[in-house]
Amino acid sequence: MAETIWWKRGIIYQIYPRSFQDSDDDGIGDLEGIRRRLDHPVWLGVDAIWISPIYPSPMADFGYDVADYCEVDPRFGTLAQFDALIADAHARGLRVILDFVPNHSSDQHPWFRESRSSTTNPKRDWYIWRDPAPDGGPPNNWLSQFGGSAWERDPATGQYYLHSFLKEQPDLNWRNPAVQEAMFQAMRFWLDRGVDGFRVDVIWLLIKDDQFRDNPPNPAWRPDERSVERLLQRYTADRPEVQDVVAAMRAVVDEYPDRVLIGEIYLPIERLVAFYGRDLKGAQLPFNFQLISTAWSAAAIAGLVRDYEAALPPGAWPNWVLGNHDQSRIATRLGGAQARVAAMLLLTLRGTPTLYYGDELGMVDVPIPPDRIQDPWAKNEPGLGLGRDPSRTPMPWDDQPNAGFSSAEPWLPLNPDHAQPNVARLQHDDRSILTLYRRLIDLRRRTPALSVGDVSEIRAIGNVLCFDRAEGAVRVLVFLNLGHEPADLPLPPDVRRARLVISTVRGGDGPDFTDRVTLRPDEGLACEVVDHG
Ligand code: GLC
Ligand code: MG
Repeated sequence: MAETIWWKRGIIYQIYPRSFQDSDDDGIGDLEGIRRRLDHPVWLGVDAIWISPIYPSPMADFGYDVADYCEVDPRFGTLAQFDALIADAHARGLRVILDFVPNHSSDQHPWFRESRSSTTNPKRDWYIWRDPAPDGGPPNNWLSQFGGSAWERDPATGQYYLHSFLKEQPDLNWRNPAVQEAMFQAMRFWLDRGVDGFRVDVIWLLIKDDQFRDNPPNPAWRPDERSVERLLQRYTADRPEVQDVVAAMRAVVDEYPDRVLIGEIYLPIERLVAFYGRDLKGAQLPFNFQLISTAWSAAAIAGLVRDYEAALPPGAWPNWVLGNHDQSRIATRLGGAQARVAAMLLLTLRGTPTLYYGDELGMVDVPIPPDRIQDPWAKNEPGLGLGRDPSRTPMPWDDQPNAGFSSAEPWLPLNPDHAQPNVARLQHDDRSILTLYRRLIDLRRRTPALSVGDVSEIRAIGNVLCFDRAEGAVRVLVFLNLGHEPADLPLPPDVRRARLVISTVRGGDGPDFTDRVTLRPDEGLACEVVDHG
């Protein structure tokens, strides 16, 4: 089968390394901890782990502020431990994807220290420096994603530097070929060590307007939204020239066999799909976050799936994401019953699924006491709630103290609810969401119709989202009841008999469906067509 390259057929599992497993009793997860817990992703049946940043960092943004692109932060371990993790993962059939953070470095990176030292330093142009506006203020109106101006005045030279995020995260100048070359070398450093690809942080922000024009106001902005949304990001995001940078990164990845380039992109569908690149020489998987922002209704999601499928360039491979370390957890957004339906949606749609660690346990956002808030964005914009910490809390493994995550006080609190689910307990519970995830993954793996097959007949019937997946002679019908009432609908006219293969609420066997399908409240089910009309 042509479509069996691992990142198309496979499932990606995101690990936030601070919160997966601590091995050295400092309350912070680390690489050796991940290595010791590889049983879990292997047991779950995923194909690849993506690890959020592990580079040396002052941790102003928990690793998304990189002080050295070719090392490991001592809190996470050593390069030797990284190599051991890759070797063990590969020996167990797991790929390893690294987070790569090219838009900005830490202000502690030696490049930036040099850059800020004088206007004539050879590294000056590695970052984005501008003279003040005539009134001495920032050069233009651009805003930081984390609140406030995107410009910081540096007293040493009186110029401003650009930071799309924290002021501790100065933006690199991707129009400078020397920057590009240095970053590509860093990618090769990890590719040579055996990483299977990169998830590239904020790839759609890498290039900014070369004329530094003011962004226009956003008439739709509401005060309960992030302040960066006050302006349309016309001149700071999705600039045409970014496509050349993405293509150049892809070329680096393509110097090695079987690697994947994934891009973090928060854009509407029609702009998102541009990141597959001309002749599909951009990102192989431009992350599709539409399930995070779309209303949870059968009609809205059916429309989304159809629009996305229709927008894909010929030959482009789709992908779907339900959650990540920047978003409220799916079980909090939808509640426990619909979180199971969401799992089934993610694992039956056409396109590579990415799971966020802990979502397979039904983990919820953990309320963080105000004095324990860590997220710098939450500290900058306190009016907007607790920020991103609630979805970054430690993985609960078992009934030991701190749920087996660490013998020390964890960097973020565990769910204080002692009945909180943990891996050990849920693994032995036939009805748990974890068991459901594992069964769905297993089903997807052994059913080409689900992993690589076509999708068709995407529609909403009342609260039920329906679609067909097919490969060769095998046809699987998926019915997802997004409502809390029972539902009853006809089988497609050309189907006489269908056999239940999985349900989010009932056991695996039951009588075949003939004529009609009856769904319980909050039930998702898949059945295989056994008799065509
Ligand atoms: C991405 C990351 C987020 C980080 C930001 C700045 O959006 O996912 O966690 O804060 O980039 O690097
Ligand atoms: Mg540790």
